[in-house]
Amino acid sequence: MDGKWKCKADKGNVGIEEEWFKPKNYDPLENDLLDIHIPNSFNLLEGYDIYEGIFWHFHEFNLTYSEDKTSFNNFINFQGANYITQAWLNGVYLGEFHGGFTPFRFKITQQLKKKNNLLVVRTDNTRRKGQVPDYCFDWFNWGGIYRSVELLRLHKNRITDIVIKTTVKSLQESIIEIKYNIIGNLSFRWQILDTDHKSVLFEGDVLQKNRKGELSQIIKKPELWSPDNPNLYYLKVISKNPESSGEILYETHFGIRQIEIKGKYVYLNKKRIYFKGISLHEEYHPYGRTIPYEKREKDIKNMKSLGLNALRTAHYSHDEALNEIADNLGILILEEIPVYWFGDYKSNETFKVAAKQMRNLIKRDINHPSVVWWSVGNEVPIEMRECSRFFKRMMDWVRRFDDTRIVTFVSSRMFCDLTKRYADVGAINMYWGWYKGSVKMINTIVDIVHTPIFDKPLFYTEFGAGAKYGFHADQTRQKKFSEEKQLQVLDYTIRTLNSKDYIAGWFIWIYRDFRSLIKQEKYQKGFNRKGIVSEKNQKKLMYYRLPHIINKKRKLISSRLISSLLWCIFFPFAYLLTYLGDVVGASGHIKRINKGKETERERLQKQGKKVVDEN
Ligand code: GCU
Repeated sequence: MDGKWKCKADKGNVGIEEEWFKPKNYDPLENDLLDIHIPNSFNLLEGYDIYEGIFWHFHEFNLTYSEDKTSFNNFINFQGANYITQAWLNGVYLGEFHGGFTPFRFKITQQLKKKNNLLVVRTDNTRRKGQVPDYCFDWFNWGGIYRSVELLRLHKNRITDIVIKTTVKSLQESIIEIKYNIIGNLSFRWQILDTDHKSVLFEGDVLQKNRKGELSQIIKKPELWSPDNPNLYYLKVISKNPESSGEILYETHFGIRQIEIKGKYVYLNKKRIYFKGISLHEEYHPYGRTIPYEKREKDIKNMKSLGLNALRTAHYSHDEALNEIADNLGILILEEIPVYWFGDYKSNETFKVAAKQMRNLIKRDINHPSVVWWSVGNEVPIEMRECSRFFKRMMDWVRRFDDTRIVTFVSSRMFCDLTKRYADVGAINMYWGWYKGSVKMINTIVDIVHTPIFDKPLFYTEFGAGAKYGFHADQTRQKKFSEEKQLQVLDYTIRTLNSKDYIAGWFIWIYRDFRSLIKQEKYQKGFNRKGIVSEKNQKKLMYYRLPHIINKKRKLISSRLISSLLWCIFFPFAYLLTYLGDVVGASGHIKRINKGKETERERLQKQGKKVVDEN
């Protein structure tokens, strides 16, 4: 369904009332419609650079095959559209989905015609309290249908929800377990092909009626998957039903690997693994979020060339293509849903929206060996009871569907986050040497952060410093936003973290500068500048220095006793101050976004650019 579509902004929110979804109303509208190539965000259209609101998308199509409603079910599958998406086919309402980063689909079997179908999709990326993410976030709110749309025709008798679980018993032996659901009646042949995807290693036949099924296979001397050796086997499910005999009903590559946590250490395939990572937003100038495959591939190749072995997809899941590439090239992926900063953590509605996003994400990515971590959120007021409860519940929700990956959340509360005891690992963001104090504080602070989870691994999931590409200052003066300042902060932090026994890994914030309405200082101008490359991929000093620093350590003098004492002493005060700080912080967020937007509008107008108003 990708290709040429039509679209129209709905500033007055009149489209539903005027029934823009009805085929009879399409022709009168047509002259007023803009062309758009889907997938693409409407924010790339001239004048809609900072537009946030309702946008209608129209697509006329004919079927290239018979619509045969007796043996097939038909669906429209969206890989990603932001934020609230509603759809109609031939005037009939199909449903809606809340969330900008995970796939969703609508059944269309009854509405589908052989010819002259009209698909109408209304997207709304208006910021609202209680959404996921909530009103204010530090990334650009790209709106519309920015990932692929597919017409899916599936046999009524089919296999679904295939989950591949691999257990590494030893380097000599592993077990592959495949769980699945059958809809209708299906007999099928399953095959596991070797890492060249040529010869069949194992196969078997199954005759199954409407229920869950499971297969298990022991494999000797397996070629395990790891970032250094991204070996991939192949699974095929071939129909033996008369109506679909010989058809491949499901196929995927998979890796045999196992992530385990023992005490303070994380193991991959029975060997201790240390994460040296970086974060990345799904944005690439001038494509917005609809990034060409080869650009994503280049990013990961660059990261590996710097010596990095892990990537955090901040703060939401990227297109599945990124995980495909990560599986093939070998990089560990940390995934997250955008439960971010302040939100309505008392609301069961918000919980349901987040839980649905998480469920769809797990369904999409559960068979990617590169994906090793589910984070249920980032930098929330976790010291608040309703928020802590929300996160415990969300982590339990994730564990119901996947007990093979690390389940956690990313915190920024140094002293008063007790909920991290409920997570598999601790994960902390701190910006010493940038937002706070001197980078030299890290040695003691990170010990304090680790105190309540002394028996678990701790990940340092964000640290960084802004740098405007090309802005240099001599080493001594350490000017903010200079490339030298960024180098100094990142260098010192990496050496310190590499010297801490309980640190299981770190993640530089961030690979590439990215757009954000709340970053409007003179060196920022609408961009978060903490990338080690600019938004145009210009490499900053840190990019060149990283390979030389990445494994460096430094002599540390630290005492767990002192940091534990400090934690006990400071906890009550920190709790109070953090709580009050969060109450105040939450109240200023709407203003912060609106002010940022105003500044962006003025800058665009000064550049002589057309800016379409939302109202
Ligand atoms: C936070 C947050 C990021 C943000 C970063 C920054 O830690 O998690 O989303 O971009 O700080 O301010 O640069």
